Amino acid sequence: MLTCYDFSTARLMEEAAIDSLLVGDTYAEVCLGHATTLPATMEHMVTIAEAVRRGAPTAYLVGDMPYLSYQADMGEAIHNAGLFMARAGCDCVKVEVDRRLVRTVEALTTATIPVMAHLGLKPQSIQSLGGYRAQGTRAADALRIIDDARLMEEAGAVALLLEAVPMELGRVISESTELPVIGCVSGPYCDGQVVVLHDMLGYGVGHPPRSVKPYAQLHDLLVSAFQSYARDVSDGAFPIVQQSIKMESREWAALQEALKARST
Ligand code: KIV
Repeated sequence: MLTCYDFSTARLMEEAAIDSLLVGDTYAEVCLGHATTLPATMEHMVTIAEAVRRGAPTAYLVGDMPYLSYQADMGEAIHNAGLFMARAGCDCVKVEVDRRLVRTVEALTTATIPVMAHLGLKPQSIQSLGGYRAQGTRAADALRIIDDARLMEEAGAVALLLEAVPMELGRVISESTELPVIGCVSGPYCDGQVVVLHDMLGYGVGHPPRSVKPYAQLHDLLVSAFQSYARDVSDGAFPIVQQSIKMESREWAALQEALKARST
């Protein structure tokens, strides 16, 4: 699984046969330049999910429910999740949860909306977590996450996403559930993996996190392309005649005649 936020990239991922695309609320960070995911809105998320679906018609598409689109009210959660399903053609929605949201997961499931339950580090809760740090590193916290995973399975979740937990915990949860477990910085034992697109492409601001393997170095490639373009335009090397639109000679002669007539 990879995160995806636009039509053109979705087309490339479809061509590369990536199984599953997550329209993540990291959109607010990597595309809009915010410091957290909190400013993502339903309207943003559904609009980009529609574009991603147009680019990747066959991938398993997951819509990430943004901050406060599901926490406050169950009816609102169903309505918002329904927008991902009905408008964008998502296959499932992802919600950042713990045991306090079991009833919401049940309600979405009852409303025939498949749910991926996101456990461990929950970026929408960073204000209460005190920052982006690994979760479940102490035995008691790990037990709580294991229990939450079981509760989510019982509530009807169709998949789990574990973010920033130790690989030992990733293994215990993956081995103890029937559900597919997607890991995000949670070790090699999960059933699948997800990374943020900009991190794996070397396309983010600053250094990619140490936990992400770089598969490309787009930052350097793109900065150099932009510099070459600016240099070519200043030097007159772009556009050249072959990259320009030429008038039919008859029309050009007629235009010159018309201009001459005007000036006299
Ligand atoms: O929004 C997102 O991109 C995510 C991933 C980091 C798992 O939730």
